[in-house]
Amino acid sequence: VKIYKVMSCFSQMEELQKENVYIKDAERVEKLLCQLIQDGKSKLQIITDFDMTLSRFSINGKRCATCHNVLENSSLVPESKKQVLDELRDTYYPIEINAKMTIEEKIPFMMEWWTKAQSTIVACNFRREDLTRAVRESNAMLRDGCDWQFSTLHEHKVPMLIFSAGIGDILEEIIKQHSQMYANMRVVSNYMDFNHDGMLVGFKGDLVHTYNKNEGALRNSDYFTTLKDRRNIILMGDSMGDLRMADGVPNMQHILKIGFLNDNIEERLEKYKEAYDIVLVSDSTMDVPNAILKKIL
Ligand code: TMP
Ligand code: MG
Repeated sequence: VKIYKVMSCFSQMEELQKENVYIKDAERVEKLLCQLIQDGKSKLQIITDFDMTLSRFSINGKRCATCHNVLENSSLVPESKKQVLDELRDTYYPIEINAKMTIEEKIPFMMEWWTKAQSTIVACNFRREDLTRAVRESNAMLRDGCDWQFSTLHEHKVPMLIFSAGIGDILEEIIKQHSQMYANMRVVSNYMDFNHDGMLVGFKGDLVHTYNKNEGALRNSDYFTTLKDRRNIILMGDSMGDLRMADGVPNMQHILKIGFLNDNIEERLEKYKEAYDIVLVSDSTMDVPNAILKKIL
């Protein structure tokens, strides 16, 4: 069985032959896949972004909500605050996805966006119990195939780190409503701070934005140390910042990077092909990562 599995890496995976799948260095990916399959599930860990990676980018041409958008669009936010958050997004999102700026140039703008958005959200007097309803009323959803992926990784005891610049409380609620939070999942994100009355008063810990995930990775070195025998990583992201999520993983041997390119496609495709081993353009599913997992597990 093993030999058959190893021989049937890439060329026989029909999911990888689709038109929206871009692989710059097919030889490297073939070797990597064979290696991951050979080493098996006991050597594997998953590191993934949440917004627009696990969650879906659009449905029928309409954008799906990010964690922040869930709050922004909820009936609990007054029109004046909605307008502030809309203006922030219109100012800073084009910078986030700009193909010409470097990550270093983008960082100060992302700091501004997150800081301003967080203080606007805190000023809305959210309560802990409002979150369930805000998620239920939103169009935030998971990519097709997430539910299978989560339950299968759990069944095979493969750890999954969800590393998100979104909002931890919201992403957990999205996962609960559309799938399940399992014991093998660990989330690093911006968590809300509620006072003893359940009122939102701020955000806990160090800010995570799209382009400082490398710092967050280093702060979580304890987590990675406990997984030090899991030397193979599948990393999934939709931003160039997500490539830094595995910084500081000790003993890393092989890393397969899968990138979802959802927006500003023509301008960014070349860079994504350079940076990610496999690029999935306008894909609303987990078909490719799941096909790879099926071979490994
Ligand atoms: P991530 O997917 O890299 O973890 O980043 C979270 C996303 O959240 C990022 O793509 C931008 C988005 N975002 C909003 O939609 N609204 C906001 O107010 C902020 C601060 C971020
Ligand atoms: Mg993302």
